[in-house]
Amino acid sequence: MPTDTKSHTPRKPRIGIIGTGNMALALGRALLAAGHFVAYGSRRPETKNEFHEAAGTESRLYGYQAAIDAGEIVIITLPYKEVAAAARKYADSLRGKVVIDITNPFAAQPNDGSSGAQVTATAIGDGARVVAAFKTNFASTIGEPVDSSGQPREVHYAGDDEQAMKTVAELIREIGFKPVNCGTLAQAVALDHMVPLMIRLDASEHASCRKSSFRIAGP
Ligand SMILES: NC(=O)c1ccc[n+]([C@@H]2O[C@H](COP(=O)([O-])OP(=O)(O)OC[C@H]3O[C@@H](n4cnc5c(N)ncnc54)[C@H](OP(=O)(O)O)[C@@H]3O)[C@@H](O)[C@H]2O)c1
Repeated sequence: MPTDTKSHTPRKPRIGIIGTGNMALALGRALLAAGHFVAYGSRRPETKNEFHEAAGTESRLYGYQAAIDAGEIVIITLPYKEVAAAARKYADSLRGKVVIDITNPFAAQPNDGSSGAQVTATAIGDGARVVAAFKTNFASTIGEPVDSSGQPREVHYAGDDEQAMKTVAELIREIGFKPVNCGTLAQAVALDHMVPLMIRLDASEHASCRKSSFRIAGP
């Protein structure tokens, strides 16, 4: 963990969040409340005053490059169709950082069996440390990590870099969720496919409340 130079106490890693939509706001607020520095990146930061107020003015709002530079961990919250191009454009800055890919391909699912997060990692290139996470969590549950049964909701995460996986598991725990290790970046394709199922089940079982979540129950 990075150290605060004045106090020599460990400080929480700084977070850059690319995008200013529903998931960006929900995750950014949770991480800010957990004591992280949070910088958002927008295509047009000058138009996002309302977002910034909702996010908390202790956070920062920049363009993409400055938000990436500000984060030791970068969370990509763009529409999936924008991700590969953004990852390629900012590859030099993203390489080596822990990059959390929360984006869901839906109809744009790669047809060679790859996961969306693998496409992101390939776009960043050698040295990419991508972890797929939060794909299977509705935005409206991020501020409610404990479900109505009193148990923490699961966050499924997957990746190939052991240290990055540990970092993301810790982040998930810090905001009140239960990290569930779902394997490698290749295996994250299962998470991509769980999302349309999650939306269908939320509709059929819970009237599209968008507050449903998966749980793997023990015996
Ligand atoms: N909503 C959920 O419950 C949920 C749950 C899990 C995962 N996800 C995934 O997380 C990602 C973000 O979801 P979201 O619901 O937060 O989306 P959203 O509200 O539409 O936000 C996406 C953000 O991406 C930026 N952006 C860049 N290029 C864009 C473009 N061409 N069109 C629209 N926005 C663009 C925008 O920020 P600027 O205008 O500031 O650039 C926008 O606010 C998606 O990939 C989604 O599949 C969503």
